[in-house]
Amino acid sequence: MFDKFNRRINYLRISVTDRCNLRCVYCMPAEGIKLIKHNDVLSFEEMFEVVKAGVKLGITKVRLTGGEPLVRKGIIDFVKMIGSVKEITDFGMTTNGILLDKYAEQLADAGLHRINISLDTLDPVKFKEITRGGNIFDVFKGIGAARKAGLEPIKINVVINKSKEEPDAKAVTEFCRENNLQIRYIHVMQLDKGEFSIVEGGDGGNCAICNRLRLTSNGMIKPCLFSNIEYSVRELGVEEALLRAVENKPAHGTFNEVGQFYNIGG
Ligand code: 5AD
Ligand code: SF4
Repeated sequence: MFDKFNRRINYLRISVTDRCNLRCVYCMPAEGIKLIKHNDVLSFEEMFEVVKAGVKLGITKVRLTGGEPLVRKGIIDFVKMIGSVKEITDFGMTTNGILLDKYAEQLADAGLHRINISLDTLDPVKFKEITRGGNIFDVFKGIGAARKAGLEPIKINVVINKSKEEPDAKAVTEFCRENNLQIRYIHVMQLDKGEFSIVEGGDGGNCAICNRLRLTSNGMIKPCLFSNIEYSVRELGVEEALLRAVENKPAHGTFNEVGQFYNIGG
């Protein structure tokens, strides 16, 4: 499907949960977050209805995000459901990597193609600070497990403050070179203030070529991360919500006051 600006929309990102096992400083406020109510969270069956309707309209690429997608119960079965759709030729997940050692093989068996892992520093102490408690060695183990399972290419997401020449980012760059990992630099953003920029090494944030729709875990189709526009699949039905989102996809982002990274999925 094409939007008003002739962009081909073929990519659906699904935030399967707003829950996370970390609390990254740039993602979650220290005082905690207001979680989506359990009743409002779509079941995997409902999410799969959106996937199927999306595929009919031309979606060929799907990515699961969060929060942290691997903390949601039943995630492997959901991966299996999507993995069985032959029209989906690119199927990825963005994860913090903490649970990957446990799940990488099952994910690959279930039909996931590849994985993006967040890693902002190589320093265990700094990692613990940034994530408010995470153990970096879990992530290292997770990267190894993803490789062993063949979830390639493995991409590393690094959040940077100003530039990729910062010491932490440089260390991660070197780590990726040594370990044959792709790397993408994401400038820290503030959605509600309209602060966003392109992802270096990726396609995110480049409005002119944006091919994305998003589904949040409470069933909103969002045509743009940097906009308040959203359509409820429960209220409108899956096809109508998708069509309206495409029809009203803005030419470029502005600001988003209704959602955050942990519930839209970045
Ligand atoms: N700015 C930029 N990136 C962010 N992420 C989470 N919050 C922010 C933010 N405020 C990133 C994570 C992860 C990806 C899904 O989104 O680091 O790599
Ligand atoms: Fe969790 Fe990712 Fe947010 Fe960190 S950035 S708190 S890992 S959702």
